[in-house]
Order: sequence, then C-alpha cells, then structure tokens
Amino acid sequence: MSTSEFNLASLRSRLSHLPIAGIMYHEITGSTNDDALQWLDQGAEDGSLVVADEQTSGRGRMQRKWITRKGTALAFSLIFRPAKQQYLSLYAPLGALGVCAALEQQGNIQPQIKWPNDVLIRGRKISGILAEAAWQDDRLKGIVLGIGINVASTAVRLEDGFLFPADSVQNCLGKEIDRMDLLVEILRSIFFWRQKLDSPEFIQEWNNRLAFRGEEIRINRPGQGPLIGEVLRIAPDGVLWIRQKNGREIPVLAGDVESGMINTMRPEE
Ligand code: BTN
Repeated sequence: MSTSEFNLASLRSRLSHLPIAGIMYHEITGSTNDDALQWLDQGAEDGSLVVADEQTSGRGRMQRKWITRKGTALAFSLIFRPAKQQYLSLYAPLGALGVCAALEQQGNIQPQIKWPNDVLIRGRKISGILAEAAWQDDRLKGIVLGIGINVASTAVRLEDGFLFPADSVQNCLGKEIDRMDLLVEILRSIFFWRQKLDSPEFIQEWNNRLAFRGEEIRINRPGQGPLIGEVLRIAPDGVLWIRQKNGREIPVLAGDVESGMINTMRPEE
C-alpha cells in the first residue's frame, strides 16, 4: 500500500502553509460532504476542510455511490463561502483542475477532465467530484466541494461493478503515490485557481484538459433523451458545446458524458 497514515496533527502540519481555516479529520465517516454540509450550517469558515480515511456512504453525482476503502484513497471536502453567486457552477471544475495539476506533478501523465468534472487518466476514471450548494431561502450559505481519488491500486475492485472503466493513480503511474503529498498539491492548486475563477485562463485551462475533444460522444441527461455530438469546447460560462450530425452547434447544461464505447453507469443503477 502506498500511503501516509493520516491524523489531525500530520494534516495540520503539512497544510499549515495553505489558507485552510480549519480541519476536521475522521478515521471513518459516512460522507465527508455530509460532514462538511453540517459544519457549514454550524458556521464553518471559508476554506475549512474535512478529510476521511474511509467512507461508509460516500456519495457521487446522480445519486450514485462512491466507495472509499481505508488507507487506499483520498476523500475530502472543502467548504467555500463565495462572495459572488455567479460562479457557482465553476467550483466542481475547480476541483477537477486542482486534481489534474497535482497528478501531473507525480509523473509523466496527462490527466483529462470528462465534462463536467470527472478526472481520467488514459480514459479511465480515477477521481470523481461532487460540488453541492447549500441555500437558506435564496441566500447562498456556501458550497461543499467533495473530491474522491483512487490512489492505491487496492482502491478499485472488480466487484465494485464500474461500467465506466475505473483505475487508480498507482496503476496509471506504475508506482506508489503518497496520499499526503497528493492532497497537499491538490489543495495548493485549488486555492491558486480559485483566485482565477472568473478569468479566461481558468476556462482555457479547462478546455486544454477537456477529454474527447473532437470526438463523438453520447450525453445522458436526467429525465431527457440522450444527445449525440462532437465535443467542441467549454464556453466562458462553463457550458459544454457540441456539434450534432446535422452541423447544428448546441449548448449542454447538464448530463453525463459517455464516449462511443463506454458506459458511465454502474450495473445496479
Ligand atoms: C462522482 O464521481 O459522481 C463524484 C464522486 C465524489 C466522491 C467524493 S469522496 C469525498 C466526498 N464525499 C462524498 O460523499 N462524496 C465526495
């Protein structure tokens, strides 16, 4: 197994140079996003962090499960209290950019972002991101940005039943990766890009890392029929544009990207 033991003291010491307001650490918890949403309610400051070694009911997008086994993965949630509401949809890609930048530091790989925010290495998913906004009436209380990464090869098991191919950082790089080093680098990169959320460089960086660009994909949309088209770009407002067979370019606001030969759903769903 690859990886640093986590505890509150080691997290505090390794993250002390970053603008992290407070840290909560759990050896085991249900979901760090649930913990963070609760902490947000109780007044957690902008930049607070929840980390867990193991999750028993980790959540993914579209009500999917996310499995985090003890000692094998990264599972953490950041709490933000954005001053402006207009960039809310950019927090999930902010997480994906942070993960990509940190992974690149680990070796000779080019991680990509499967719109809207899964991180792939060589077409296999190694990280998932779940951003959740908390509201009180029409006032935004904050955003919880939850990130899960399969670090060690033991994080991913065949019996988990992924139909979209999943993999681990260790398998992709062919070497052991230290979880703590990876966490520090991801957080550093997230805090860097957060200051540039409203910049053209942010969208450019997202486009540079966009998976399946120029390829035909299928997008499954909740409660609507699928869309098929060629991936064009992410627009400045964070919306994905595709070109349909008839040449029409259309924006896609929500959905799940599937490439021609792969399916993103787990069998039980
Ligand atoms: C997805 O791929 O659909 C998103 C998965 C997000 C998983 C992370 S792990 C840390 C945080 N806590 C959760 O319950 N979910 C996110």
